[in-house]
Amino acid sequence: MEDMKDIQWFPGHMAKTRRMIQKSLPLVDAVAELLDARLPLSSRNPEFDRLTRKKPRLVILNKADMADPALTQKWIAYYQKRGAAVITADSKSGKGVKNFSSALRTLLAPQLAQFAAKGMKGRPIRVMILGIPNVGKSSLINRLAGGKRAKAEDRAGVTRIQQWIKVDGGVELLDTPGVLWPKLDDQEVACRLAFTGAIRDDILDKEALAARLLTILHKQYPDALLERYKIPKDAELQGFELLEMLAKNRGMLLSGGVPNTERAAIALIDEFRAVKLGRITLEEPPCEQPQQTAPATEA
Ligand code: G4P
Repeated sequence: MEDMKDIQWFPGHMAKTRRMIQKSLPLVDAVAELLDARLPLSSRNPEFDRLTRKKPRLVILNKADMADPALTQKWIAYYQKRGAAVITADSKSGKGVKNFSSALRTLLAPQLAQFAAKGMKGRPIRVMILGIPNVGKSSLINRLAGGKRAKAEDRAGVTRIQQWIKVDGGVELLDTPGVLWPKLDDQEVACRLAFTGAIRDDILDKEALAARLLTILHKQYPDALLERYKIPKDAELQGFELLEMLAKNRGMLLSGGVPNTERAAIALIDEFRAVKLGRITLEEPPCEQPQQTAPATEA
């Protein structure tokens, strides 16, 4: 597989985003961080915490319709434990989006009480939405705004005056979401983002990518592979061998009966993205360190 480091983003992008966030941060009461519920770690920009400092945070596990519900529950607990308010959403259909304002009001209850004490009872809550490309920022903003707004521009040289979009529940959104870039120097992270289509895969070796995805699925979702591709749960196969089996079981053969692994790779990736293998989450929350109990002292 080609080295993921070869994927170059426009170098000015991160600096531009950083400046935008730094300029906007004093204007907002909270930041809403959109994550892909299928990849709640890899779809985070590692700079996020440092960039947003101590602003109250709402985590939105978006694309929850495509993610494994049991693991989504674990991720909710994980981010709540880290002090964030958490909601799940399907910004495509709009499911869960109605919880956005109420979650913010709960998160910001102390600040809202202070506003009220100062006689600013109707003061709107101002929020900035942040997330990596393709995570669903535009879809969410459109849903919240009731379709009043077009897709955000992120073109170099286009300067627009930032505006506030009024949404339900006394909340105002900054109309330009912050586009953060994922951490692509980590091969593992880059591959997971390529599986979901968050980053372009046309320069990647599709067979290597599919082989990698199959190895993960065989370990974490063996039932899905058995059901869809008749790959036995106990097959002691790895990566490319699994891809060959998939091709054979699907009748994808070249002349001479050679498995057409290229076609199989494309089918697997398309079907994974179209949720035909079921709702899958590729990352589990890291194991929490067990609470240290004081060693028993001997009498
Ligand atoms: P961005 O602004 O963060 O870059 O993301 P955007 O809203 O453009 O969404 C990227 C893709 O993800 C879009 O699909 C969008 O429809 C889809 N999407 C966003 N949120 C959700 C969600 O919660 N669930 C599901 N299933 N899909 C979601 P697309 O293929 O680029 O376009 P289209 O399918 O809407 O035509």
